[in-house]
Amino acid sequence: MLDITKLKEYTEPIQADLDEFKNRLNDYLKGDSPLVTSIARHLLKSRGKRIRPVFLFLSSRAGDNFTEHSVEASLAIELIHTATLLHDDVVDESELRRGQETVNSQWTNLISVLMGDYLFAKAFRIMVETKSIDLMRAISQATERVSVGELRQIEDTGNYALSEDEYLSVIADKTASLFNVSCETGPILGNRGEKERALYSDFGEKIGIAFQIADDLLDFVGDAEQTGKEPGIDVMNGRVTLPLIYSLKQVNDSSRREIIKVLEKKDNRESFEKVNKFITETGGIAYAYKKADELCEQGFGGISKAENSIYYESLAQMVKFTTARVA
Ligand code: IPE
Ligand code: IPE
Ligand code: MG
Ligand code: MG
Repeated sequence: MLDITKLKEYTEPIQADLDEFKNRLNDYLKGDSPLVTSIARHLLKSRGKRIRPVFLFLSSRAGDNFTEHSVEASLAIELIHTATLLHDDVVDESELRRGQETVNSQWTNLISVLMGDYLFAKAFRIMVETKSIDLMRAISQATERVSVGELRQIEDTGNYALSEDEYLSVIADKTASLFNVSCETGPILGNRGEKERALYSDFGEKIGIAFQIADDLLDFVGDAEQTGKEPGIDVMNGRVTLPLIYSLKQVNDSSRREIIKVLEKKDNRESFEKVNKFITETGGIAYAYKKADELCEQGFGGISKAENSIYYESLAQMVKFTTARVA
């Protein structure tokens, strides 16, 4: 099971918001058919970290921008996130998510894709309840970016010459987009104007990029017991992530060719171990952690210390959790 004990500590000040989120999510996912009901039950049984709602509530409250529609915004964003996971697990042929079988594995690819579509539809219905055209625009744009990111990632598959900039730009689309809009929700619903909106949006974008760098690191250094996901999936799928990009640049042509040969075999545990050893020894792991920490620092530095400081303190802890997490 996922260890989210620490997270609970950090989110103490927004417990009431998270409880409301949870109750409404349970209601929304009651199900419109027996199949939907059983998949929804499966999804709710092992819940994720709900980190996007956490960032949404904390940044809204830290900036004094919490409104009655914040919970609806968080539900829409978390449902979109869940939908993208149902699609992503089909794309990545993953069998384990949140410590249990994926929907594609327990049911079928077809069911996972269609359930993902259903969750998108639900999300868009809830989003409308916020009655904010600006927020609807921002959430729709973020959703489009997730799709573009996933598609660009497929184009980059097996490209071992991928540059760091291209990698960062793809993960910004596929992952930072939803963090961005989560953090931007407060200033949008609170009508705080363009300047504050831009600051929170930039904060979310940087945290989101760091979050995905950390996720890609967990594919190498993570433990399935804690992450609830099988490690090594990225290497086996030909995904080129930051530790590898860095490490491939540190060695001479012949060593690079040798490791690429191992990477191209992809499908066995032994090659994963070899790649893992290579990126550890050539500094790729340390480099990626450093990059993620720098982004967090830059992002958090951009928003000014809020007067309402219990939320600000929690936000600071969440920023640390983004890269230090094991799940
Ligand atoms: C997983 O996101 C997909 C990525 C963007 C890395 P989370 O790590 O937030 O997934 P859950 O919701 O907690 O399972
Ligand atoms: C994140 O990518 C998925 C989305 C943004 C949809 P990953 O493929 O790295 O996510 P995990 O590792 O399967 O959770
Ligand atoms: Mg995946
Ligand atoms: Mg991953």
